[in-house]
Amino acid sequence: MQKSILIIGACGQIGTELTYALREKYGNDAVVASDIREGNESLMASGPFELLDATNYEQIENVIMHYEIEEVYLMAAMLSATAEKFPMRAWNLNMNSLFNVLNLAKDKKISKVFWPSSIAVFGPNTPKENTEQNTIMEPSTVYGISKQSGERWCEYYFKKYGVDVRSVRYPGLISWKTLPGGGTTDYAVEIYHKALSDKKYTCFLKEDTKLPMMFMDDAIRATMAIMDADAEKIIIRSSYNLAAMSFTPYEIADSIQQHIPEFKMDYEPDFRQQIADSWPSSIEDSKAAEDWAWKAEFDLDKTTKEMLGNLKK
Ligand code: SER
Repeated sequence: MQKSILIIGACGQIGTELTYALREKYGNDAVVASDIREGNESLMASGPFELLDATNYEQIENVIMHYEIEEVYLMAAMLSATAEKFPMRAWNLNMNSLFNVLNLAKDKKISKVFWPSSIAVFGPNTPKENTEQNTIMEPSTVYGISKQSGERWCEYYFKKYGVDVRSVRYPGLISWKTLPGGGTTDYAVEIYHKALSDKKYTCFLKEDTKLPMMFMDDAIRATMAIMDADAEKIIIRSSYNLAAMSFTPYEIADSIQQHIPEFKMDYEPDFRQQIADSWPSSIEDSKAAEDWAWKAEFDLDKTTKEMLGNLKK
C-alpha cells in the first residue's frame, strides 16, 4: 500500500532510523525526510529531503501540500539536558512544533500523526518502580513539562477534533547509527563508543542510578506497530508507557566488561544527575501489550552485543 509520509526531525537519533525503516517498508520516495539541517550522507542519499523548521507552520504546510503527505512523524525536540539550559527555546520548539502538526491534522490536511512522549513526564513524586500508566505525574524538568503538556494536548485534539494522533513514552534509547544529543540517558550510548576507542568512560550519572532503557530496533518496531494498529485499538490517546529493560551505569559497564574485560568506568555526576533522579527506575507497559500487542525483544546483554558488534565495523 502506497502512502506519503513526512518525518520532521529526520536527522536525529530516532528520526534517522525511522526514516530508513519507513523507506524500507513503503519505498524511498514515499517517505520525505526533513530537518533543520542536513543529515548523514546515507540518509541524504536514500530519498527525498526538505530543509524545514518545525516551528514554522507555513513551511510544514508547503511540504505537506507539495508531496500530498498523509502521515506525519514529529521527531524534532529539544531533550532534557539541553532544555534545562534553554527553557524558553525548548518550550517554543517542543510545543509549537506539536501545535503546528496537530492543527494541520485538525484541518484535515493530514490524516495521522505520531508524536513521541517520554519517561520524563514522570517526576520525583511518582512511584519509582514499575511505574504505571496512570499515576502521579509532576514532571520537574522543562523537557518533562513540555512532554506532559503535549500529551494532554494530543488527547484533547483526539477527543475534541477527532485527530488520529498516537504516542508512546520512550525510555532512554540506545542506538549505533546516529548519536543522541542533549539527553540525560545519552551516557548509555556514549559508553559503547568510549569502551571501544578508549577502554574507559567517565559517567555523568552515579553508578546506582537505574533508568528505563530500550534498544533502538525495539523503539522503531513499537513506533511502526502503534501507527499500523487499527484506530479503535488505540484506546490511550495521550501516550502509552513503553518498556524493555532497566539498568544502572554499573550494570551496563559490567555487561561491556563481558566483551572488553579491561574496560574501566569512573563517575563524575553533573547536573544531569538531578534530572535522572526525578525519573522512574522501571516502567510497567501492560496497556501497550493489551491494546496493540507490544513486546520488547532486546535486553541489556543483547543490546551490548549489537552495539559493540556494529560500532566495531
Ligand atoms: N532520552 C531522553 C532524555 O534523556 C528522555 O526522553 O532527555
